[in-house]
This record gives sequence, structure tokens and C-alpha cells, in this order.
Amino acid sequence: SGRYFGTAVAASKLGDSTYVGILNREFDMVTAENEMKMDATEPNQNQFSYGNADRIVNQARGQGKRIRGHALAWHSQQPGWMQNMSGTALRNAMLNHVTQVATYYRGKIYAWDVVNEAYADGSGGGRRDSNLQRTGNDWIEAAFRAARTADPGAKLCYNDYNTDNWSHAKTQGVYRMVQDFKARGVPIDCVGFQAHFNSGNPVPSNYHTTLQNFANLGVDVQITELDIEGSGSSQAQQYQGVVQACLAVTRCTGITVWGIRDTDSWRASGTPLLFDG
Ligand code: G3I
Repeated sequence: SGRYFGTAVAASKLGDSTYVGILNREFDMVTAENEMKMDATEPNQNQFSYGNADRIVNQARGQGKRIRGHALAWHSQQPGWMQNMSGTALRNAMLNHVTQVATYYRGKIYAWDVVNEAYADGSGGGRRDSNLQRTGNDWIEAAFRAARTADPGAKLCYNDYNTDNWSHAKTQGVYRMVQDFKARGVPIDCVGFQAHFNSGNPVPSNYHTTLQNFANLGVDVQITELDIEGSGSSQAQQYQGVVQACLAVTRCTGITVWGIRDTDSWRASGTPLLFDG
């Protein structure tokens, strides 16, 4: 069908046979929950560390599953050495990171989250302030160009949260960026909608509109980190709504849930996932 069903995976759980049993049976795509982030892969500048990420990649490839890479450039989970950098030094360090990591995994990644969470929440619709943003507004396109050069076969995605509701300013801000990138030939292939839903950010009734409007720009759309606060039939109906919105859009190529069991979730105090503990 060209559509894939994925989950976030933690390397530390690959020895848990219950976890791996569900993983191997239910999913055909995986994302490293933390192991491919900047702090994990470049703990010291220009010293790269791929052990935990490789455990996930090798397990997935051994089972014939595809891999979403997460994430090459992000304001959060930066290694300590990077947090204190600015200006040209930071821009070059970021581009070197993108190039090195995408080159190391060249040919093994179906889609990369090249840039994660670069837009601000609220009514402004603009960029989030961060050390990366302060290197210049073109940092996102620079990251995408570096990623394309390093791994021309990977789909290159922009990934964010609270971009599900078409009427929200943040959604419109990301839409305008993708529209601009397509108009100017900046290499972008997909947009990831994290889809961390809760009572303050419910599954919107216009979700299909959002996904279709982005797809109409000429990019794939993917649900990349799905979890939904709640329980019972209300939660089940929201999961159904997300899946139906994706299935109604030809270019919605995947749904990834952000963990397997509730006990695996970053929201472990709730029951946001498909499997119980
Ligand atoms: O591994 C260390 C452990 O050694 C240490 O004892 C412990 C004490 O704090 O921390 C452990 O690391 C934690 C790591 O998860 C692994 O469990 C970090 O503190 C914790 O910050 C980290 O949280 C992750 C979070 O991103 C960080 O921003 C979550 O697991 C992960 O699910 C979450 O994922 C993000 C996506 O990348 C982007 N979108 C939002 C999503 C949810 O926040």
C-alpha cells in the first residue's frame, strides 16, 4: 500500500522478549526514541557515538523493517558542548552533525526528521527562538541541503507538534515554510505531524484538511509520534479519527505511535498507547 505502521523504540528494551514480540509482530517501521538525537550521536564535538542507535537499526533491518531517523537538528537534546555555541561556529557544527550522521546511515534510512520543532507555539506563527534560530533564518534550509547531499535516497522531513489543527497559527507558519521551500527548490519531501494529543490539544475535526493541504504542496505527510491521553471508547474513537484522516490522504504514507506499551511511554503516568503494560 506504500503506507507504513511504526513505533518509537528504546535500545534499552530490546532484551525484553514481550516488547520485542509485539514490535516484530505489529510494526513494519521503527524510530529511535532518543538514540539518534544530537546528544546521543555526538556527545563530544566531532566524536560520534552510534552504538545504541545501531542496535535499533540492526534489529529493525534484521526484521525487514524500515527506519525513520529522528532527528538531525533540534533546539532540544543538544549535547552540552553545542548548547553553549552560537553564530558561525554553531551553524558549522550543526551542518557537520547533519552531514556526518546522515552519511553514516546513508542508504539505511527511509525518512529523516531533518529539523524538529522549529516553530513557536501560540498565535504568532513564527519561528521558535533558539541558539540554532539565532544563527540565521536560513538554518532550516541549510540543514535540508546538507542532508540531501549526504543521503540522496532518504526522504527529508520537517517534524513538529501542535500543527494538526488547520486553523492554528503554528500550522499556518509551517505550511508557509514548506510552500516557500517547494517554490525555491529547497529539498523537502515530507512533513511529520507528531500528534501528541491531550485534552488541551485534541484530535481536530479538520485533521484531514490539514494533511490534505500539506500533501497538495507536493510532500508526503506522516503521523510521526502518535499518542492520545485518555482511555476507553473516547480514546479509541480519537485513534480511529487519526487513522481515518491519514487513510483519506493518498500521500499520508505512515503512522508511527510513540512507544509500544503504556509503560514504555514518556507519558507513563497515563495510558496513551495501544498496548497495556
Ligand atoms: O537515559 C537517562 C538515564 O540514564 C537517566 O538516569 C535518566 C534520569 O533523568 O534520564 C534518562 O534519559 C532520559 C531519556 O528520555 C531516556 O529515558 C531523559 O532524561 C529524558 O529527557 C528523555 O526524554 C525524552 C524526551 O523526548 C526528551 O526531550 C523521551 O524519552 C522522548 O519520548 C521524547 O520524545 C520527544 C520527541 O523526541 C520529539 N517530540 C516530543 C517527544 C515527547 O517529548
